[in-house]
Amino acid sequence: MAIQRPKGTQDHLPDGSPKLGIDTRAAAFHFVRETARRILERAGAQFIDTPLFEEADLVKRGVGGSTDIVRKEMFTVYYFGDHGGYILRPEGTAGIVRAYLQNGLKQLPMPLKLWLHGPMFRAENVQKGRLRQFHQIDYEVLGSTDALVDAEAIALMVDVVRALGLKKVRVKLGSIGDPEDREAYNAYLRELFTPHLERLSDDSKDRLTRNPMRILDSKSEGDQKLIAELGVRPMLDFLGAEARAHFGQVQQYLNDWGVEYDIDPSIVRGLDYYRRTAWELHHEGVGAKSALGGGGRYDGLAEQLGGGAVAGIGWAFGIERLLLAMEADGAALPASTGPLLYIAALDEENVAYAAALAREARAYARAEFAYKAMKVGNAFKDAERRGAVWAALIGSDEVASGTLSLKNMETGEQAKVARAELEGFLAGNSSDVAHPPTS
Ligand code: HAM
Repeated sequence: MAIQRPKGTQDHLPDGSPKLGIDTRAAAFHFVRETARRILERAGAQFIDTPLFEEADLVKRGVGGSTDIVRKEMFTVYYFGDHGGYILRPEGTAGIVRAYLQNGLKQLPMPLKLWLHGPMFRAENVQKGRLRQFHQIDYEVLGSTDALVDAEAIALMVDVVRALGLKKVRVKLGSIGDPEDREAYNAYLRELFTPHLERLSDDSKDRLTRNPMRILDSKSEGDQKLIAELGVRPMLDFLGAEARAHFGQVQQYLNDWGVEYDIDPSIVRGLDYYRRTAWELHHEGVGAKSALGGGGRYDGLAEQLGGGAVAGIGWAFGIERLLLAMEADGAALPASTGPLLYIAALDEENVAYAAALAREARAYARAEFAYKAMKVGNAFKDAERRGAVWAALIGSDEVASGTLSLKNMETGEQAKVARAELEGFLAGNSSDVAHPPTS
């Protein structure tokens, strides 16, 4: 058998591919990224890109030693003659904060809004919507603790899902307080769980010492049963006065703007850097345990990475999960389109002339040409397979008279047009000419 792609990865394929799925269609990824780009750039976010591999320490210190990501899911990168201390990035936030610190971005006007899209890597148990290489759209705001920034970030996430046509999305909003609130909560959890140590899964026994809050996020049924039996109090009960006031302000802004959310009093995110506001977006079509996206505030992260204090907040969507949700909701995706103009020569000596015509037309439209002389029937068949709107066949007559004989592949309409008038003709007959710049 020919070599296969690694488990948990996907190819993003061109339209027309026989095995095309919603989450493997390259054009669908492009559509989601473009939709997010438009919304985020209108809100003032600038694009940033960071390396796909980073120092392992960045992820260990950033994402946190008690998380599944660091303990079980890191892809280590080895290469000849190197210490092997790199890993493929499991998320975008730590890399962006590193880039902010390393490149003196604090000189830029604050708050600084950044966005990124690209592949992320986690060695997870593979299932629907859970991959080892997946793709995120990530938005980060640095340099402000203002609750208005939190509310705007959440509202922008909702704007993106709305623009994608998703309906059954719920925002689960919570707060995990300031570090001292979390310490108090963890102390409470330690006291609560320690007498039941033998009932906890091995992972959760370990969590009890490192970060008890993570037990609440356990995937073990036994753990979840114990949590329910013990009637664990939620993190929200432990918020200090400042975190509580901040959380109240975030809700107030969202209420003012009509952004709907449900309070989730015991939200636990899968990364350790969060404090205060934390949230997730869920969709029925993707499964109860799988979020479309999530985010939160991480004011201590820059210091954890060895930099000065920088406030930060952000979120990320998983593009594959957005696409699965769009499919479940029957949301519209752009139709696959072919060229506006397809040109084929009927004789070998006119192939280069046909190619030159197509190249000329590319100044204002998508135009393709046949690389070999074609018989009339085959040329039309080829034009149709490629989804062309207009097909032009070039024989010696057309070359001599400087004209094109055009046929509309959808309506059958025929026209003879002078080479110099082709642009005007196509403009009058299609809205696709000179694709207007998108902004
Ligand atoms: P996260 O919750 O770990 O947050 O991931 C965000 C989203 O990425 C998830 O909600 C999900 O849609 C997608 N995702 C995560 N793992 C997988 C996977 N194995 N397969 C498919 N999709 C996946 C973060 O990554 C944070 N960096 C978000 C953030 C930005 N917080 C602050 N700023």
